[in-house]
Amino acid sequence: MDAESLLRRYLEQRRDVGERDLVLDHMTVEEVMRIIGATARGASRGPEPLRPRADVERAERADAAPPPQDDAPRERARDGHQPAAASSSASDEAPPASAPAPARGLEAAGDEAELFGGPISRADSLDEIATMVAKCTRCPLYKTATNPVPGEGSPHARLMCIGEAPGATEDQTGRPFVGAAGQLLTKILAAIQLTRDDVFITNVLKHRPPGNRNPMPDEVTACRPYLVRQIELIRPAVLVAFGTFAAQSLLDTKLSLGKLRGTVHRYRGIPLVVTYHPAALLRNPAWKRPTWEDVQLARRLLDSASA
Ligand code: URA
Repeated sequence: MDAESLLRRYLEQRRDVGERDLVLDHMTVEEVMRIIGATARGASRGPEPLRPRADVERAERADAAPPPQDDAPRERARDGHQPAAASSSASDEAPPASAPAPARGLEAAGDEAELFGGPISRADSLDEIATMVAKCTRCPLYKTATNPVPGEGSPHARLMCIGEAPGATEDQTGRPFVGAAGQLLTKILAAIQLTRDDVFITNVLKHRPPGNRNPMPDEVTACRPYLVRQIELIRPAVLVAFGTFAAQSLLDTKLSLGKLRGTVHRYRGIPLVVTYHPAALLRNPAWKRPTWEDVQLARRLLDSASA
């Protein structure tokens, strides 16, 4: 693998497991500097340090308006939510030297081990993942949910739709996007000549948060290996994130939906389009037009992937 691909793969892996700091252990300074377009020779003061993605985004956000809560997909129990991957935690900070050893905190189910070698990462079919989700106790949501909602659709889907978490109807039926928002999603897909059977539909969380509250960071972390493995197994040509939560979780960013729309992002190398959540369109039909534009973009990506 060439140095640039190696660096990209390394950064994606670190980001996917929620790492915020950059420690490059397998690349030489020369290689990294070549990739970022700098040169080590003669750089007596040293190069501009590579800034962790979070720092870059913090800087970008400094003068940005707060993200709108306007596309919140489900009834909200509280506001001001950010997804797990994008949240910062005071517990990240090193304690003063004299501080006693901190009490053991919550363990988010050994995420890295799961992503790279745990049982979920070795599941070899979507059915096996569904079985694992049905038995999942990696976070407490299984206790309050009625049914698991692993996702459904074609194992050979070229397009994957990713929402936030099951709502009430999904919890009752065990199927994703089957309530009012789901019916609109079906129409959105029809607008780009796709049926539900053509695609795979799933959510960041596979169990419903009680009262449709926002997903908690530990829940997202615990559930992430399922989504990662689903994507690996399906290997779709295009991903579509519906709503701020799915987009921010997948892309590990706090950028607003408005900033994320209209660009082709990449998740593990797969083109990812961000658009409004169908539930948001039910409340604000003015967003139907931009959503239509976003899914047309997804359609073009599909077409060019098969050309
Ligand atoms: N909202 C979501 O994000 N997902 C569903 O499955 C239903 C509603």
